[in-house]
Amino acid sequence: MQLIDGKKVSGTIKERVAARVQELQSKTGKVPGLAVVLVGEDPASAIYVRNKNKICEQMGFQSFTHNLPADTGESQLLALVDELNRDPAVDGILVQLPLPQQINSQRILEAIDPAKDVDGFHPVNVGHLAGGHKTLVPCTPAGIIEMLDYYKIDIEGKHAVILGRSNIVGKPMAFLLLQRNATVTICHSRTRDLKTMARSADILVAAIGRPGFVTADMVQKGAVVIDVGINRVDGKLVGDVAFDAVAKLAAYITPVPGGVGPMTIAMLMQNTVTAHERIHNL
Ligand code: GUN
Repeated sequence: MQLIDGKKVSGTIKERVAARVQELQSKTGKVPGLAVVLVGEDPASAIYVRNKNKICEQMGFQSFTHNLPADTGESQLLALVDELNRDPAVDGILVQLPLPQQINSQRILEAIDPAKDVDGFHPVNVGHLAGGHKTLVPCTPAGIIEMLDYYKIDIEGKHAVILGRSNIVGKPMAFLLLQRNATVTICHSRTRDLKTMARSADILVAAIGRPGFVTADMVQKGAVVIDVGINRVDGKLVGDVAFDAVAKLAAYITPVPGGVGPMTIAMLMQNTVTAHERIHNL
């Protein structure tokens, strides 16, 4: 069994991105700018947002943070998005999800300029991805592809089974794996005989948000197991995979923490550079 080290892989991506930021600064005098918007005080979201800012600054980006109160109205948030769309210093806009219930998230995501949509959640970018065209791709699935490539894990012709059909992970993951010529199955809460499905996977991606859901009897010997879950159990972070038992069978497996998590932020930085380059025709 080989452990997939997300810290190591994300480190190489961050180095590449930081070097590119330096190069852009010396050539153009400008650096990429990322705006992060947090509405309310969800503790997990607040931690993510703080980490994003910290890494932005470490890597030489301009970082803009907007903390809005939990009772912010949809029209106020739309006004802020509009302001960020028009701000030439801002190349990337990330509105942290989930949003409070009085705000229609889809309406907000659709208001973001697709050229600045570093989450890849705007319908225009979702459409480009579905069409197999180059675009801003959701960070977590993009990071998973980077990890597979780093470890030279073949995707072509393999059966990839994704557990979870979210717009943030499951669906975009399916399109990226399909682009790389995998045969893709998406399973979800209504899938019949999920165990048999999972057992037929060469590459198994677990993104359901249930601690320890994937047990050893659901995994084929020699499978590649990617754990997207971040669940807090008794103050400890655990994934969707019962790690100790599954690690005995898997050829490759990602740990939690230290697997997929660090990749997501590295890809966000990569997407912000890409957005900056496209906006400025670099
Ligand atoms: N909340 C959990 N994951 C994400 C993400 O990738 N992007 C945004 N905007 N919010 C999230």
